[in-house]
Amino acid sequence: MSHNSVHIAHIRQDYTLAALDESVTGNDPVAFFLKWFGEAQEAQISEVNAMTLATVDSDNKPHARTVLLKGLENGGFTFFTNYNSAKGRQIATHDSAALLFFWKELERQVRIEGTIRKISDEASDTYFHSRPEGSRLGAWASPQSQPIAGRQVLEDNYTNYQQQFSDGNIPRPPHWGGYVVVPQCIEFWQGRSSRMHDRIMFTLEGDSWVKSRLAP
Ligand SMILES: Cc1cc2nc3c(=O)[nH]c(=O)nc-3n(C[C@H](O)[C@H](O)[C@H](O)COP(=O)(O)O)c2cc1C
Repeated sequence: MSHNSVHIAHIRQDYTLAALDESVTGNDPVAFFLKWFGEAQEAQISEVNAMTLATVDSDNKPHARTVLLKGLENGGFTFFTNYNSAKGRQIATHDSAALLFFWKELERQVRIEGTIRKISDEASDTYFHSRPEGSRLGAWASPQSQPIAGRQVLEDNYTNYQQQFSDGNIPRPPHWGGYVVVPQCIEFWQGRSSRMHDRIMFTLEGDSWVKSRLAP
């Protein structure tokens, strides 16, 4: 083991901030997620809406990256991206996805697993047009996930689209829009001392959420 990995092996944190009891989660995990999200906002956690998104490719290999949660209005957890990106291609062949929030300042983790699908064009349009101009141009300029010869390719694309849409009317690119992860399972994790953490899991059975406690 190298000098560095010896140090890494000794990094540990005991969790003592809070507990999570079945009696406080209620029976609606989306409502409880919003409660925890509000608490994370109040705690001024930076990038509170950043979540890890895992998708699966056509060879059943998993891939993970960070995206930003943009709402819960489409029947699940919505984010926006390039439909032709690596994740977009994975989602097109495999409609399973998982999301992960880690709010370390609150010693909390939320895991969400479910199916993923595109949101409506109208909902994507509405969000796209709420974005700053630079982000709207960026969506046109970036062939997300494709190799490019250098930074200059992006800069040139951006300038070209700036000229093309110089009247300020920037339409949503057809390759850009939202996805929603419709949850089948949501697990709330609260760190506790001595690795005796609390894990409350909700699983959708038919139309009903079934709640259970998992061993840490
Ligand atoms: C904090 C943070 C937020 C991000 N938010 C998004 C996002 O909302 N949408 C997106 O397409 N990429 C976002 N990214 C970039 C992705 O992590 C990733 O690099 C990109 O989507 C390409 O992923 P892919 O090649 O697997 O498709 C974000 C990255 C970070 C670090």
